[in-house]
Amino acid sequence: MRTPLLAGNWKMYKTPADTQAFFDGFLPLVAGTTGRDAAICPPYIDLAVALAAAKGSNVGIGAQNLATGKEGAMTGEISGYMLQTIGVKYVIIGHSERRQFFGENEAGVLSKTIAALEYGLIPIVCVGELLAERESGSTEAVLGAQFDGGIAPLTPEQFAKIVIAYEPVWAIGTGKVASPEQAADAHTFIRGKVAAKFGAAAAEATRILYGGSVKPDNVAGLMAKPDIDGALVGGASLDPKSFAAIVNF
Ligand code: 13P
Repeated sequence: MRTPLLAGNWKMYKTPADTQAFFDGFLPLVAGTTGRDAAICPPYIDLAVALAAAKGSNVGIGAQNLATGKEGAMTGEISGYMLQTIGVKYVIIGHSERRQFFGENEAGVLSKTIAALEYGLIPIVCVGELLAERESGSTEAVLGAQFDGGIAPLTPEQFAKIVIAYEPVWAIGTGKVASPEQAADAHTFIRGKVAAKFGAAAAEATRILYGGSVKPDNVAGLMAKPDIDGALVGGASLDPKSFAAIVNF
């Protein structure tokens, strides 16, 4: 049985003071919640406040990116080692915004995933197609190539520790959510790729999250699909009440 994971990706939003205010409102709303994992991935600058606020709670804290290696002359970068030392649990890797605006590719996704695992972080590895790719019927080819390049080269031991997030780029921040059927089709395809590469037991155990305009009023329909194991939530994770409603779906 896969434990659902509901994770908030704050992107480039919220100051440390905003972060404290969020947790003050959010934690009481999920304090009694069981049977699922919840996470918040704030900007680096907010991690310390988030970790202190969430300490002893059922909410894990994640980063939105990491640099490979332990430490070094890498101006502006933060390593998995550094994240681990402060108690970060998850790290988002290969988000479409990183691919689109920062030139990340499959090779980078793979090396960052390995770097995260090396320091005991749980990578949330993102895949997803552009609108033009969906419209031209190449969704599965794109997802397949992202899986083959960024995920398939992992060892079975490494793979067993990752979470995959399917985020159709056309649904991110657009208010245009994939229908539960569209999302489920993509998840089933990805799980099939996992089965072919890592075997049936791995496919059964792997959590595949959906991301793209997840809101309190559409989360239940998505989560009703057996292949959808959680959500990676942008905009709706910024508000304590709305993200709590998603976590408590
Ligand atoms: P929205 O929920 O704002 O569409 O963002 C989705 C996303 O990119 C989460 O990583």
